Amino acid sequence: MKIILFGSTDMVGQGVLRECLLDLDVESVLAITRSATGQQHKKLREIAHKDFFDFSSIKNDLAGYDACFFCLGVSSAGMTEQDYQRVTYDITLAAAQALAELNPKMTFIYVSGAGTDSTEHGRRMWARVKGKTENALLHLPFKAAYMFRPAFIQPLHGIVSKTKLYRILYIILGPFYPVLKTLFSKYITTTERVGRAMIKVAMHGAPKPVLENQDINTL
Ligand SMILES: NC(=O)c1ccc[n+]([C@@H]2O[C@H](COP(=O)([O-])OP(=O)(O)OC[C@H]3O[C@@H](n4cnc5c(N)ncnc54)[C@H](OP(=O)(O)O)[C@@H]3O)[C@@H](O)[C@H]2O)c1
Repeated sequence: MKIILFGSTDMVGQGVLRECLLDLDVESVLAITRSATGQQHKKLREIAHKDFFDFSSIKNDLAGYDACFFCLGVSSAGMTEQDYQRVTYDITLAAAQALAELNPKMTFIYVSGAGTDSTEHGRRMWARVKGKTENALLHLPFKAAYMFRPAFIQPLHGIVSKTKLYRILYIILGPFYPVLKTLFSKYITTTERVGRAMIKVAMHGAPKPVLENQDINTL
């Protein structure tokens, strides 16, 4: 399986990349980043791309892939709706539209989040924008599209978030993970589980297009 990965520098994407590089069914990974991570692996190729609103200059590199794992995304904390939508909706749709045109047999997997608002009219800004993004993706002509809605993600294998607030939270919560996992297993997953579930869904599909935290853990 040949995979395109967006967000290979973020917490979720780092975890997904790790699982892809370890998995024997994944033949190659093309990571599209703003700046190369410098990571070396025989299965990995990176393209450093400046403008995430326009992928026409790298169009020739984006064809011939089986799946896209779209992990790129930011926390809405401190952002206006317009700015959050620009990163969340505009970048995701720019990439997805380019990929759908070039790869009609592609499975597209998008990382949104638990509590995403499919009606697009709720009170929480981030949830409305994620809902709008999910809805638009589900209408693109991919072979299949799946929306992953993890709740709390525990970073494993030395992976760290780029968001300072999350980094602090993970340090504080670290010692409590065993207890939290027992009490709130429905709401906790890990970077490893998200990556493993994505590979499985890309290979075999899933019973429904929107996968909540528990579905991800089950997969
Ligand atoms: N963390 C969690 O517990 C959690 C839970 C549920 C859902 N999620 C979702 O998972 C996704 C990833 O979250 P995360 O916590 O892993 O993110 P993160 O560590 O904060 O990383 C942010 C990522 O977005 C990229 N990015 C930001 N602005 C960009 C722009 N203008 N152009 C191109 N790339 C840009 C960054 O690239 P650079 O490296 O180039 O800066 C980086 O790869 C988000 O959609 C989030 O809502 C996260």
